Amino acid sequence: MECSKLLGVLAFICFLIPVMSSSSERQFTAWSKLRVNLTRRSEGESNSAERLRSAVDRSKRRMNTIEAFVEQQIAGPLDTETPIRVGSGEFLMSVAVGTPSVSFEAIVDTGSDLIWTQCMPCQSCYTQPTPIFDPSQSSSYSTVSCTDSLCDALGAFQTGCTSDCTFDYMYGDGSETSGDLAYESFSIGSGSGSMVQGIAFGCSHDNQGRGFSQGSGLVGLGRGSLSLISQLGSKVDNKFSYCLLPITDSSSQTSPLFFGEGSSLSGANTIPLIKNSVNPSFWYIPVTGITLNGNPVNIPAGTFDLQSDGSGGMIIDSGTTYTYLNEVAYSPLREAIQSSIDVTPVEDSSGDLCYQKSDNMALPSLAFNFHGGANYNLPPENFFIPQYGDLLCLAMGSSRGLSIFGNVQQQNFHILYDNAQNTLSFKPTKCDSL
Ligand SMILES: *[C@@H]1O[C@H](CO)[C@@H](O)[C@H](O)[C@H]1NC(C)=O
Repeated sequence: MECSKLLGVLAFICFLIPVMSSSSERQFTAWSKLRVNLTRRSEGESNSAERLRSAVDRSKRRMNTIEAFVEQQIAGPLDTETPIRVGSGEFLMSVAVGTPSVSFEAIVDTGSDLIWTQCMPCQSCYTQPTPIFDPSQSSSYSTVSCTDSLCDALGAFQTGCTSDCTFDYMYGDGSETSGDLAYESFSIGSGSGSMVQGIAFGCSHDNQGRGFSQGSGLVGLGRGSLSLISQLGSKVDNKFSYCLLPITDSSSQTSPLFFGEGSSLSGANTIPLIKNSVNPSFWYIPVTGITLNGNPVNIPAGTFDLQSDGSGGMIIDSGTTYTYLNEVAYSPLREAIQSSIDVTPVEDSSGDLCYQKSDNMALPSLAFNFHGGANYNLPPENFFIPQYGDLLCLAMGSSRGLSIFGNVQQQNFHILYDNAQNTLSFKPTKCDSL
């Protein structure tokens, strides 16, 4: 009898120990609302017309990359081809890595997951404005082993894993980065309490191409397990939000990106986010249609639905400037917009729908309709932007399959991504007032 009592106590202790240790491992203080300042990417353009033009050119390239990536995810890459990865963006944030820490500006990408920066020793590194991170000088650096589940998360981008986990990312524009997957301490934003240990990131020793100009690395904010939001997890309540200043804003103000508790939006519209197992990094939104001046545009039902093979659907992305719509939706929308405007469009070499700017031009009202009934009402400046100085052009284009909700359409909206509830919330907001 005493023996069985003892066994009971032992069993109780044995049961308690793992519970206690796992909870103490996970015990950390959640961050209170942490602000990170985003700056818009520029490539040294001399004026705002040039700056807008190159953002639109990058947008087109990004859309092509995303399209190629999606098609490859569905069909599988050819043996002879390095798979293409999405990995760029229009905004930069400051991060610090290592102990002692080294700061750098990283491109923020809601369309990919991996966080990476250039690392010493460089087999090949492009010029970056801040010193290149040297892991041999950091006391908090450790490599990720091949058996780590985060190494598996690299999927096709993992290269010849023997003991330590290595990767090779080829981007659509021919840029490439490869190196070791490692754990490090990262600080984001400023102030105390923003440091987190053991973030898996790509320490890249071989970087080629012009695709990363400005950023000394990248912060992935996609949905996959390697992304910053997934790795921060409950520390930030599995949420981030941002509010993007208009692309035409020429002040030096920054756009806020928030992490953590308290970033909930009161009075916002909330829609479900859809997961696509073929493209787990992307944030899919359930669009049912588009209305122009209150009338539904003649788009076949189901045009924006995600297909069972993983094709189609619509994603929301901060790194694509324009919105790209499946051509089945783009053509009728463009026609409807054109017939709603009482002025003849100007031929523009880009093929965009453009008008000569004039004060008395009345623009229609446009709304995206979501499953569940929520509408996203776009003010005119969120779909017509200045081009070449005196033209006003529709900030939308057509795509072959997948549609992308771009950043012009998101400006002056506070947008919250909730990766635990699988929801997206949005609310019109003057971003410079946050
Ligand atoms: C971010 O921008 C806000 C508002 O302009 C400013 O108050 C804050 O100091 C900035 N933070 C950093 C880290 O630069």
